[in-house]
Amino acid sequence: MPETRHFLTLLDFSPAELDQLITRAIELKRAHKAGADQRTFPGKVLAMIFAKSSTRTRVSFEAGMAQLGGHAMFLSPQDTQLGRGEPIEDSARVISSMVDLVMIRTFGHDIVERFAAHSSVPVINGLTDDYHPCQLLADIQTWVEHRGSIAGKSVCWVGDGNNMCQSYINAARQFDFELRIACPKGFEPNERLVAANAARVRIEHDPLLAAAGADLVVTDVWASMGQEEEQLKRARAFARYQVNAELMSRTASGALYMHCLPAHRGEEISAELMDAPATVIWDEAENRLHAQKALMETLLLARR
Ligand code: CP
Ligand code: NVA
Repeated sequence: MPETRHFLTLLDFSPAELDQLITRAIELKRAHKAGADQRTFPGKVLAMIFAKSSTRTRVSFEAGMAQLGGHAMFLSPQDTQLGRGEPIEDSARVISSMVDLVMIRTFGHDIVERFAAHSSVPVINGLTDDYHPCQLLADIQTWVEHRGSIAGKSVCWVGDGNNMCQSYINAARQFDFELRIACPKGFEPNERLVAANAARVRIEHDPLLAAAGADLVVTDVWASMGQEEEQLKRARAFARYQVNAELMSRTASGALYMHCLPAHRGEEISAELMDAPATVIWDEAENRLHAQKALMETLLLARR
């Protein structure tokens, strides 16, 4: 049996593998829309562990696995022994002995790392406090579909230095683009991660300066899951960090903007941009399905 591969961050795949995965996601999307039977993995089972809420991640993994001919199983700490203190390591050993893939959405990134270290099957990070790599697959697929390669482009992150922002830092490295991060002081992404990617990543506290000439602008909620009690404090700190028409007027012509959703209209993004007919935000959400089918296919094929 080859070594078990996991997808905990974008760095688990090489740039060439990531490019291949995006190409495959676009192919799978076309075939799915043309009505192709994609049940190439009958009998395969995906366990999905959700310690945080989800709409897109749950629906896309569950629908994706069904379309591939397999089955997805929803597990939450509340109704498994995970919530009663059974060690992650023991749970990983047991769950992975019965299924073919595991997806986990949880708090600390160390939890997915510990689970993966004791899992006999591939583990996919469906969001941790530090990273959300599956969303990046969908975002890059969306860019490629609309604009071609993202290599050499200028991307501007506006908002919190959170799990999505940190995934964009990894993406800048793996897909070779320049990233400017506009965040309030005190809400920067991990300092070591920024330093390790200094050739491509720069922090610029002024959002309008950061957006100047950008090809793509990306934002996300000001308070992530687990930070609900900081909502008011954050709303004050982030008041100047809204993606809106004024900010977009500073970007390169034809610039796109993205949001992983769920969004708060009037906070991190204006209602006008959210509801603009030409927005690619809905493609971005839909592409979670296709990108993750490509990801699951890649991980399952690696075990044949
Ligand atoms: N973007 C995203 O991961 O959405 P959900 O929280 O609904 O899964
Ligand atoms: N940063 C957000 C992303 C949600 C998909 C959160 O972690 O809640």
